Amino acid sequence: MKVWIYLGVIAVFYIFEISEVSANPPPAYEGRRLFVSYCQLCHGVGGKGDGPLAKAMKIEPADLTTTVRSRSDTILRKIITGEGRQTITGRDRHNLLSEAMPEWKDVFSDDQINALIAYLRFLSNKKHDLMGDPEVGMRLYAKYCQVCHGEEGDGNGIMTNLIGITPMDHTNPNETNRLDNETLVKSILDGKGRFMPAWRGILSRSDVEALVSYIRLLSN
Ligand code: HEC
Ligand code: HEC
Repeated sequence: MKVWIYLGVIAVFYIFEISEVSANPPPAYEGRRLFVSYCQLCHGVGGKGDGPLAKAMKIEPADLTTTVRSRSDTILRKIITGEGRQTITGRDRHNLLSEAMPEWKDVFSDDQINALIAYLRFLSNKKHDLMGDPEVGMRLYAKYCQVCHGEEGDGNGIMTNLIGITPMDHTNPNETNRLDNETLVKSILDGKGRFMPAWRGILSRSDVEALVSYIRLLSN
């Protein structure tokens, strides 16, 4: 009997462990996380080319918020990994002749490169700036918001059927982009409609700013 209880406890433990690992962060979110550790030194966290190491570079790090717009994913992949950079031709060759931009081919997996590209797309297309730390936002979202808005943020949390509600789909940029940052902050602090709760008193202003930033990356 004791053995079965013991095995049961282990099984539950494993289920939790696995679900923890398999929760996939949104690509732009993951890309930002990598960007902060590996790229912002030169490019700056907002991608403007004004990172702390920029002054030491002979060639100015690119302002990614403007240059990336005209580049395809294939070209970006070549630029970032360094593999096939020499084969880039035409207009895209402009500014890529130097070795000042490191070659990252041995550093990142394919998925990580895709995530970095997703964040570069966010930087060059975004309608609203990030206002808080999305890494803090992700943890708070899992704790307080997922139950209604869903693990993926698509509005399909377990509560939706239980009480018959339709929370906003935070992965849909058409829904989130039409609201500016302050509107989102206000809705989260003061609630919206009948079933979006007010979080004032539970979450601080900076918690809410972190959540807004996470929602921006979710919907990209
Ligand atoms: C040591 C400084 C440094 C670091 C770190 C760095 N870069 Fe760069 N990057 C540069 C420089 C300098 C250029 C401009 C190269 C040139 O003009 O020839 C550049 C150019 C680029 C470009 C091309 C922009 C364009 O379209 O013209 C992309 C994309 C880019 N970097 C992405 C990244 C990413 C993603 C990372 C992190 C994984 C990163 N960089 C890390 C220095 C850096
Ligand atoms: C009890 C379920 C529930 C929980 C928990 C919940 N929400 Fe909502 N949320 C909703 C519903 C329902 C709506 C749609 C409200 C409407 O438009 O009537 C909504 C809408 C929103 C909106 C859009 C507001 C607007 O101005 O249109 C945002 C942003 C939002 N939620 C963020 C959050 C965040 C962040 C959390 C966690 C801190 C959270 N929600 C937790 C149910 C929930």
